[in-house]
Amino acid sequence: MAMKPSEIFHLVRVARPPAPYGARRLARCVTIEDVARVARRRLPLGARSYLENGGEGQHTLRRDRAAFRDVRFQPRQPCDVSDVDTSTTVLGRRIPLPFALSPVGAPRLMHYEGELAVARAARHAGIPYGISTLGNTSVEDVAAQTDTPLWFQMYVWGDRSRIKQAVARAKAAGFEALLLNIDTAVRSERVPEKHAGLTLPRPELSLTTLFEGALHPAWVWRFLTSPTVSFPNIGPPDQRSLEVMPDMFDGTVVWEDLDWIRRMWDGPIVLKGVTTVGQAAQAVDHGLDAVIVSNHGGRQLDHLPATIEVLPRIVDAVGDRAEVLVDSGFRRGTDITAALALGAKAVLLGRAHLYGLAAAGEAGVRHCIDILARELRMTMQLCGARSIADLDRGLVYQPPESGAAAVHR
Ligand SMILES: Cc1cc2nc3c(=O)[nH]c(=O)nc-3n(C[C@H](O)[C@H](O)[C@H](O)COP(=O)(O)O)c2cc1C
Repeated sequence: MAMKPSEIFHLVRVARPPAPYGARRLARCVTIEDVARVARRRLPLGARSYLENGGEGQHTLRRDRAAFRDVRFQPRQPCDVSDVDTSTTVLGRRIPLPFALSPVGAPRLMHYEGELAVARAARHAGIPYGISTLGNTSVEDVAAQTDTPLWFQMYVWGDRSRIKQAVARAKAAGFEALLLNIDTAVRSERVPEKHAGLTLPRPELSLTTLFEGALHPAWVWRFLTSPTVSFPNIGPPDQRSLEVMPDMFDGTVVWEDLDWIRRMWDGPIVLKGVTTVGQAAQAVDHGLDAVIVSNHGGRQLDHLPATIEVLPRIVDAVGDRAEVLVDSGFRRGTDITAALALGAKAVLLGRAHLYGLAAAGEAGVRHCIDILARELRMTMQLCGARSIADLDRGLVYQPPESGAAAVHR
């Protein structure tokens, strides 16, 4: 006897009507690497090489990812992890996830909306967002998009009056913390960018650019029909300020400059680009509130250790005198879980949110945050951790310190 329609519906699940093409592609992305593949297809060569590559021989870039392969968890199961709390407190603010979105220069190369799309995604997730000195959207316009904590990342350079102006604008716009870089005395050599013919800050029109443009018409159309790319945070908001950029990496920054900024800014100051115990200890001695253990995503000095390798020693050196955040190479919930267990307060996501931005703007960034939130939660459950406070050193196997590791002190 034939089945009745009601019986058929018990046996099968009716698929939802297909979503629009971009959304469908995004929905199929299960990991950050899946989103990265979509992003790579969308971007022309110049933008792609700006996003993906590292400094010089790219050893730091590769080591950042490779180091996570050595992480070995020591789970505490069995225990009841039906209810997991991923919230934590960073720089005095309670946030639902232990993530923040990293500052990046020129995000409009990834997507025509740049910071505006990212700020809305950060707001949706309730997580902090760092705006770069070399951002393409003014601090005032970003602040209008979100009520989540905003951090302003400053490249400190010789022109004190411009630094003063930039800091004052960030303050007036309601930014909560300043991130000061110590890893960008000069800009490193990004060889693939040169091979791709990418010239910053002023893109060059060449045969390669035209060819790549023809292969990526959607990107080109959006780029050409949206407001001209500018760097409004290093000059008056209405100016393009391109002319200042080459002078910024002038190699003049010393600890006294950071002391000067400390006196100007009464909120939290975070030192970005710390890779040694010595730098972290000095940051604390100079009254800074937090450090970001970062090798700039492998984009600056080559042959640096992976941040996950040096993190525990830096956490030990700093103790409870400052917060320790970390970035560089984080693409999975397991990476984030390991860093939190080793003592980081939170993880900053660089490319892990930029892939989403390039793939689908705000929806793409939201998707990436969701992927990492889901993976973090799952890893915590599998490890037997109910809250961020449950993530401690005992969860990660740490080999006895070798002679090579001692060199990084
Ligand atoms: C395309 C790109 C641009 C960046 N621009 C800046 C910047 O302007 N200022 C800054 O402090 N860091 C910048 N960074 C570094 C990030 O803030 C962060 O440290 C790094 O991306 C972390 O590594 P990950 O990309 O592997 O997550 C940039 C990174 C990328 C990928």
